[in-house]
Amino acid sequence: KILILDFGSPSAQLLARCVRAQQVYCELHPADVSADFIRSFGARGVILCSGTDEAEDEALQVAPAVFELGVPLLAIGEGLRALVGHHGGEASFQPGSGQAVVQMRARGHSRLFADIEDRRNATGHGLFDVCADLSSHIAQLPVGFNPIGTGEGEQLLAIANESLQHYGLAFHPELDATPQGNAIIARFVRDICACRGDWTMDAIIADAVARIQAAVGSDEVILGLSGGVDSSVAAALIHRAIGDQLTCVFVDHGLLRLNEGKMVLDMFADRLHACVVHVDASAQFLDALAGVDDPEAKRKIIGREFVEVFQAEAKRRVQAKWLAQGTIYPDVIESGAGRKGKVIKSHHNVGGLPETLGLQLLEPLRELFKDEVRQLGVALGLPHEMVYRHPFPGPGLGVRILGAIRREYADLLRQADAIFIDELRAAGWYDQVSQAFAVFLPVKSVGVSAGARTYDYVVSLRAVQTIDFMTAHWAELPYSLLGKVSQRIIEEVDGISRVVYDISGKPPATIEWE
Ligand code: XMP
Repeated sequence: KILILDFGSPSAQLLARCVRAQQVYCELHPADVSADFIRSFGARGVILCSGTDEAEDEALQVAPAVFELGVPLLAIGEGLRALVGHHGGEASFQPGSGQAVVQMRARGHSRLFADIEDRRNATGHGLFDVCADLSSHIAQLPVGFNPIGTGEGEQLLAIANESLQHYGLAFHPELDATPQGNAIIARFVRDICACRGDWTMDAIIADAVARIQAAVGSDEVILGLSGGVDSSVAAALIHRAIGDQLTCVFVDHGLLRLNEGKMVLDMFADRLHACVVHVDASAQFLDALAGVDDPEAKRKIIGREFVEVFQAEAKRRVQAKWLAQGTIYPDVIESGAGRKGKVIKSHHNVGGLPETLGLQLLEPLRELFKDEVRQLGVALGLPHEMVYRHPFPGPGLGVRILGAIRREYADLLRQADAIFIDELRAAGWYDQVSQAFAVFLPVKSVGVSAGARTYDYVVSLRAVQTIDFMTAHWAELPYSLLGKVSQRIIEEVDGISRVVYDISGKPPATIEWE
């Protein structure tokens, strides 16, 4: 296994994901863990991550024991500074000064880069594009180390002591901007550390199950099942671990997609034989939302009502000691819980519940990225179609009905949305977009149908392509497909007479309309 020590880097989890992608087990810990911990961990290799990107933060200190373990070590950014300093050299690392893609030439015959070529650029042997830390600067090479990669003007980008198998990088192999980063990490963990690639999905499940069992013991656990991928995978995983000790509470807030409730119950109650409590709270939610048109106020109300409904259910289960949530790693970052981050929209699925309920929190997916959660879901036996569904926000249709919400609007939107998704699937476009949905616009426009004047509502279709949901492009769907969707919605949904397509990118628009 690999020990990753983090100095506060925003991309430490990405590094962990790269290691896991090699089917190698790793654990991420803060860099200032004790020397005893480091020695007893039993690592086959250590990766020292970079530091925070916040200029004012003080760097953590890593115990020197890490350099004396006798196992291979890869150090990046702040970790590089620690490595160089330990071996008597001099390096600086300035947080917050940014990164840039530069060209690196491999030098000597380093094991780390041997036979790895930058195919994307076809630049030839030993030339790579790397995403370098502008602030990492090796002023004095430590004794026993050689340069193995240099940039323009002989700037040191990678150094090695091949006999110690200690490597230092002034660039980021974990970022996409370093095209051969994965190959470099693979070389380090698989070849240099000689880790076997036996950390497969089955092993991951077995480990997670054991950890859940150890934490929970014979206690009861409750989980709020939303029907989304994350809570579903968390539920399936916990159910695998503790069976009937888990109760899933499925709160229908009246803002779900067409047939969503039925699908969730079929999947969990019928297929997995899990204990699912179905609470139809749509009247309560819609009453609380009546007349409220501000998006953040709507989110807050939905969050608050959810807590209330859930809490009432939880109170009935006096035995429950744990609250399980499908929090995944990007939620941890986006909610600003993991690091200092600006909250753009208040997502209601992170935090909030535990304090009011007095339950311990069980979040078995907290360290995983979305693609890993999906693979886990398939391995746990959830239907492929469900696991690869587009993300659906916690507040559901509540943020897709602009302004004040009414049941009538939600009903119209559900039908329009289902037609759009049907047609996307039929045309083979569903998997080519990252998220697609309809948005209800509470404005009426004039139309004509069967010779008579109509005066009905408008829906907008939205389909985006994105990697990280931080930025997104609108999808260039074929006109014929858009035409068919529009025709079907107008014909089949009584109350909608006009369909438009949203061609705004993010930024400046967000993916959701609210
Ligand atoms: P935006 O609209 O911020 O959306 O560009 C980015 C991603 O986040 C989802 N989203 C939410 N998810 N609760 C959630 O659980 C929310 O309040 C919320 N708002 C947006 C959105 O669907 C997209 O995938």
